[in-house]
Amino acid sequence: MTILVTGAAGFIGSNFVLDWFDNSQEDVVSIDILTYAGNLENLSSLDGNSHHHFIRGNISDRALVSEILNKYQIRAIVNFAAESHVDRSIHGPGDFIDTNIVGTYNLLESVRSYWNDLDEATKKAFRFLHVSTDEVYGSLADKTPAFTEKSPYEPNSPYSASKASSDHLVRAWFHTYGLPVLTTNCSNNYGPYHFPEKLIPLCILNALNGKPLPIYGDGKQIRDWLYVKDHCTAIREVLKQGQIGETYNVGGWNEKTNLEVVETLCAILDELKPKSDGKRYADQMTFVKDRPGHDRRYAIDASKLERELGWKPQETFETGLRKTVLWYLENETWVNHVVSGEYQHWVEKQYS
Ligand code: NAD
Ligand code: DAU
Repeated sequence: MTILVTGAAGFIGSNFVLDWFDNSQEDVVSIDILTYAGNLENLSSLDGNSHHHFIRGNISDRALVSEILNKYQIRAIVNFAAESHVDRSIHGPGDFIDTNIVGTYNLLESVRSYWNDLDEATKKAFRFLHVSTDEVYGSLADKTPAFTEKSPYEPNSPYSASKASSDHLVRAWFHTYGLPVLTTNCSNNYGPYHFPEKLIPLCILNALNGKPLPIYGDGKQIRDWLYVKDHCTAIREVLKQGQIGETYNVGGWNEKTNLEVVETLCAILDELKPKSDGKRYADQMTFVKDRPGHDRRYAIDASKLERELGWKPQETFETGLRKTVLWYLENETWVNHVVSGEYQHWVEKQYS
């Protein structure tokens, strides 16, 4: 048996594939178009592993996806492939429409055609797991209850609107065609292999390089944070035991303001790699112009996943963040490769 993982060279996709091989003997086919966010170095520890097959390609390429599905007799798909950065979606929404909406549509159609031709038992066991985000639910007011699976969709950015559209397509392919789908809506991930355009890795690297730590607006926006390995475990559980057609919220019960996040990571750095001038990394925090349409608060109620599938996060925010900071300190080569080239253009465009 083989599973197909899309967007497998990105942050969560690569963590998922590595985690899969720590927990399973089953083969994985990874497909990724390798945008700026896709990095084969994330998967380099699997070089020479005959159970892993990497294919560079687009989820919209129906001929290629059909060939893969048939050749490897895929029994499940985990769809991570997406454009994932909110700020980039504000500068240019087109790629988000192309991959997150049209790409998901094309993938669903390739899969539906393959699935239709399977024998009844294989058809029944087949799964299409769509990885989505808490951002589809929009922004929460202070002290209001966390998002549940029943919360209305109210996306506010081009990114979240494109993810919401993809969730609706996945839902429709279940109700209309019977495709056995599962959807997960997760909060902010952090951990190894996180591309440094996102808050946590950006601030770790800027701190170490003596650069400003940019805080949008007043820094009191709230996100729920989940260590990426806990997200991977949740996805494995949903794939194994989830009810088809259902959605599952995934979160870490870790609501933090952005100021708290950056202050905590600065304190960890002060301890692990004190500055030679005796100053604190937090002194580099700098308030900058806010993100347009910036959602104020996200919070996830993950009790359905805990109650029905027995999942619980293993890391607290403090333990997960310490592991993350250590990983960046210990993986200088990875960091040096990632921050060259296209990354510099992005930093210039966003922060100059
Ligand atoms: P990422 O940007 O790090 O990785 C996305 C990967 O998809 C990249 O490797 C990229 O090359 C690939 N890709 C893009 N377009 C493609 C296409 N057309 N065909 C094939 N591959 C393509 O993103 P991530 O942070 O790893 O997020 C993965 C998924 O999880 C996304 O769907 C995202 O919406 C969702 N998600 C992310 C978070 C988070 O905090 N990062 C939280 C919840 C949900
Ligand atoms: O909630 C899940 C989502 O989390 C995922 O669906 C997205 O793919 C992922 O990118 C992430 O979105 P956010 O916009 O929340 O993540 P980001 O790291 O970009 O920003 C986190 C918070 O920090 C947000 O309130 C904006 C703020 N921020 C971000 C950057 C990059 C800053 O204050 N300064 C910055 O330079």
